[in-house]
Order: sequence, then structure tokens, then C-alpha cells
Amino acid sequence: MSLQKLKKDGFVYLNFNKDIKNYVHEINKLIEPYFKKINSDKLKKENYSKLIFEIQSKINKTFPPEFFFNKNKKLFKKIFKNNEFAIQHYFYLRAVKPSIKKDSNSVNFHRETFQGSDFYKHCFNLWIPLIDCSKKNAVQYFPYSHKFKKYLDFDYTENWTKVRKGSYSHKIGSLYKEKILTFTKKVNPKRLYKKNHVILFSGELIHGNATNMTNKVRMSLDMRFMLKKFMKKNPIQTANKKKYFQEIAL
Ligand SMILES: [Fe+2]
Repeated sequence: MSLQKLKKDGFVYLNFNKDIKNYVHEINKLIEPYFKKINSDKLKKENYSKLIFEIQSKINKTFPPEFFFNKNKKLFKKIFKNNEFAIQHYFYLRAVKPSIKKDSNSVNFHRETFQGSDFYKHCFNLWIPLIDCSKKNAVQYFPYSHKFKKYLDFDYTENWTKVRKGSYSHKIGSLYKEKILTFTKKVNPKRLYKKNHVILFSGELIHGNATNMTNKVRMSLDMRFMLKKFMKKNPIQTANKKKYFQEIAL
């Protein structure tokens, strides 16, 4: 789990330690009472997003990213050889519906710089699997795409989605504008998942489009962070009117 490997492959899997196992267990316990409702077909899109947003807020109140980083100080310090980070101050709770349903609400393939400033190329994603995550429903990525160059390896067009700015769907990380990618060579996406592991991956690794091949909603947490020295500014999020990053010293 070295920074070298993270830079070479674009991602690393980190085995659940006792603290992470506990953390995931507590969050799953918090989700459980809602799981039936989440999986029912009765909720319309915006009501579904509202419910996920309410659970997301609950999780962030009790187990925010700051808590995770502090619990895993040693791990982050060891990997990054640094103790000063700028971390997204809240987790997005992803609740991706089975892909056979019309509106599976997965996020299209992207890099973090597609939504943020150029310094977002220094971002890493922390991805935590929750209830029933598996290779059949996890996030997808293009191998070594963190090294791809625009125009040479890929290009994109923009597309306005049905998500409204400031809506609950927006607050849980759905995009109101997405990019449609095309590649110059044939590339095949792979699943980014290993049982009982959290994933650290580069914000430059092209990822997204979680086709959920199971019959239940897939739930996971994710957030972005970078070394504090790379944070050029702290943008205000359109969805929640709050600053994106929180500075922490471990
Ligand atoms: Fe992302």
C-alpha cells in the first residue's frame, strides 16, 4: 500500500483493519432500518434522493470523513508521508439502483477535474463499500486511465442531465451536467472492488458508471482529499453552499 503503487496503478485496496470494520458495521447498522424502503419501487426519483440525503446527513453527523482520517492517522501518514490534508468535509452516500430499472442513478465516467478546478488532479478518492457491495455492482474504471491524455487518448462532449441544481439528487452527488467520453483506442472498463477493502484511487483515474447487476440497491460512501499543499482554493459547493474542503493535521 505504497504511494508508488497508487501512482503506478491509479488505485490501491486497503484491507479493513479493526477500526474500519467497526466503522462500516456501525454505518450499516444506521442504514438497515431504511433498507427496505430504499429498495421499494414506490419512491419517486426526488423522494428517493431525499431519503438518501437524510441518511447521508445522519452518517456525516456521526461518522464524518474527519473521524475516519483521525481513526486511521497512521495509515494515511504512512502512505502519504505527510500529515496535512485537505479533505472533503462530508461523504456522499451512493445508492445505485439495479441497472434493469429505468433510472439507475449512477454517475457517468469521469475524472474529478471534470467537475472541479485544475488542482483537483491532485485529488484522491476514498471509497468505502457498505451493505451488499460486490463485483457485480461496484464502481467501474478504465485501467491506467489516470495517465490518459485528452485528445490523444480520449475526448468528451457535455450533456445536461435531468438533475436540477440544489435538488436532493444534486446534494447526494448526482450531476446536472455530465461528460460523454469517447476513446481513441479500444478500452474496457473493469470493476474497482475487493471484498472487505476500502479503495484509494486517483481522481484522474476515469471512473463511474456503476452498472448494478444485482437486484438490490448498492450502497457505498465516497469522498475526495488531497495533500493540503496542493489545495489552491476552497470552493463553495453549489449543492449545499458550504466549503468543499476541511483542513486537518493528523
Ligand atoms: Fe468521482
